[in-house]
Amino acid sequence: MNKKRVFSGVQPTGNLHLGNYLGAIKNFVNLQDRFECVYCIVDLHAITNRQDPKELKSNIYETVASFIASGLNPEKNIIFNQASVSAHSELAWVFNCVARIGWMNRMTQFKEKAGSNKENASVGLLVYPNLMAADILIYKATHVPVGEDQKQHLELTRDIAKKFNNDFNCKDYFPIVEPLIPKEISRVMSLRDGKKKMSKSESSDQSRINLKDDKDLIDQKIKKAKTDNDAIPSEIGGLKNRPEATNLLSIYASINNVDLSEVLKEFANKNFSTFKSNLSESLVEKICPIGNEIKKLLKDKNNLNKILINGAKRADLIANRNLKEIYEIIGLTKFT
Ligand code: TYM
Repeated sequence: MNKKRVFSGVQPTGNLHLGNYLGAIKNFVNLQDRFECVYCIVDLHAITNRQDPKELKSNIYETVASFIASGLNPEKNIIFNQASVSAHSELAWVFNCVARIGWMNRMTQFKEKAGSNKENASVGLLVYPNLMAADILIYKATHVPVGEDQKQHLELTRDIAKKFNNDFNCKDYFPIVEPLIPKEISRVMSLRDGKKKMSKSESSDQSRINLKDDKDLIDQKIKKAKTDNDAIPSEIGGLKNRPEATNLLSIYASINNVDLSEVLKEFANKNFSTFKSNLSESLVEKICPIGNEIKKLLKDKNNLNKILINGAKRADLIANRNLKEIYEIIGLTKFT
């Protein structure tokens, strides 16, 4: 059987926010002591939408700095950018030939991102999940920490692995990956609308907490965050149909590593203004040191280059060894 290996990726498309942190990066850090972990800055995914070349480059540094500032150890984990390891793209092509068009058409993220003008979306955006499956399976990863929004893509990764194993008669070759989705908060919602995901692409900066926000900004955003007029309930059932209240209380639970039910006990019958000052305090305590560390790390590009070069070498070794096996299974040969 394959040994346990974690893989996950984050797009370098701007400032990382609390959703990325609580949905994914916090979990990356928790896993580093128990698994062999591979964490990738998925720049090839980012170009499925048009990117400014200079900004893309600086966002790659920003993302690696955010990983390290959040507590990932670059010696222990393999940290690298996707464009440095060409086996991802090579396996993605193989998966373009394994996956079915109908599977792609069912992906809700494609529908959301392509919007009403589907015909004008890039082909890359449509086949994006095949590259994602390749990212994971080129390392034969078994566990993938992600936010809930990526769950459907991981189901597709499982379908691709099963079809490949079946088509090429190689039972158990690719592992059937397990998503690791945080229980306390699987989807961090916008501070302005509890029904929308917190996201980099939302035009209002007030809708999210960025990892580089300072204390004043965090205080101000939380003060203005949407809530409702009712007091905080003592039981989870009292949060029914209260998306904004649920979101803020779940953020508090996650950032403090406690259960939501504990938070409700602590704040039962209190109003949101009291709770919000506690929430701000917790966020400032956890997020501001990360933001300060990101800013510090970004000043030393040489150090970040070293981390990325070293990570790419280690990733490339595993990926190329696996690609060779995969090509052999398919009947492809690199005549070198
Ligand atoms: P990306 O770059 O959009 O987001 C990175 C990670 O952050 C999580 N996330 C959230 N979690 C909770 N609440 C939110 N509001 C929120 N916003 C973002 C995402 O779930 C993700 O875990 N397709 C992926 C990148 C990718 C990948 C992979 C992930 C490419 N290849 C292979 C895992 C394995 C993406 O666009 O994530």
